[in-house]
Amino acid sequence: VVSAIAQKTREEAMTDVARPGDSDLARLWNGPAGRAWVDAEALIGQLFKPVEDLLVAAVAGEGSMPGHVLDVGCGTGGTTLALARRLGAAGRATGIDISAPMIAAARARAGREGVAAEFICANAQDHVFAPAVFDRIFSRFGVMFFEDFVRAFANLRHAAKEGARFTFIAWRSAVENAFMTTAERAAAPLLPSLPARRDNAAGQFAFADRQRVAAILAESGWTGIEIRPVDIPCTFPATALVGYFTRLGPVGVALLDVNEQKRTEIIATVRAAFDPFVADGAVRFTAACWRVDARAGAAPRQGS
Ligand SMILES: C[S@@+](CC[C@H](N)C(=O)[O-])C[C@H]1O[C@@H](n2cnc3c(N)ncnc32)[C@H](O)[C@@H]1O
Repeated sequence: VVSAIAQKTREEAMTDVARPGDSDLARLWNGPAGRAWVDAEALIGQLFKPVEDLLVAAVAGEGSMPGHVLDVGCGTGGTTLALARRLGAAGRATGIDISAPMIAAARARAGREGVAAEFICANAQDHVFAPAVFDRIFSRFGVMFFEDFVRAFANLRHAAKEGARFTFIAWRSAVENAFMTTAERAAAPLLPSLPARRDNAAGQFAFADRQRVAAILAESGWTGIEIRPVDIPCTFPATALVGYFTRLGPVGVALLDVNEQKRTEIIATVRAAFDPFVADGAVRFTAACWRVDARAGAAPRQGS
């Protein structure tokens, strides 16, 4: 599969919507990663639907009065819109994301589907939210990419009403999520410049260490912290597998730099490595995640 993004060089792609002062991660989400997620919107929606269902039930389940809800790192808005649909006129859903192409896709989708939701294109770490406006904050895999986690989570705390619940799903370790690293492990001998995963660095597995997550939340003003392992079965059609690993993740980005012959070789190698996850026309794996719940503690007093 030759995706549209593969037709650009990596350098062109990285500078697509870059702004002065953007971090590498911001540039990535505004460049190749952002466009890959937009391209793969339908697949991602299907793949992570069980995670969306879990969050929507947690945030807007029976008996809850969620009010104004913020979806952090909302991407193309699937979870924000699912929540807005569930809340109806009883609530209000806002999504925030640093990626301009993803927010554009989210707004277009809201218009297409006739769902009322607001989308902010900004870095959630530094965005100047009005104080104490959100009754709930949630995220599906959108809070592991900050440059300064304490600053980001304190900023979200400032935007939350006192006592507001923050619920997010984040990945446990790479070791527990072999599916997620299959492509890079298989491609590594053919792509020596593939960036190595660094423990605790901002990125997909930044929150693998439960104690670290608890410490970040506590330091940034969240209380009542509960971190529970959840194993979430995920599936998508086997016909979408090559499109999945050639677009998303570090291999998707690295493939932007290789010639057609090398690309064909890498695709064959990586596709074979996914065999253990494929049966009866479907790809199946378990997402090993943390479900994290916390409450906004008392606001710090002025001057303290
Ligand atoms: C793994 S994707 C998840 C997207 C979406 N929550 C979903 O589940 O489909 C991570 C998202 O976080 C966003 N993101 C990364 N850093 C961010 C930041 N500092 N502020 C806001 N959004 C950010 C990315 O642009 C991306 O959309």
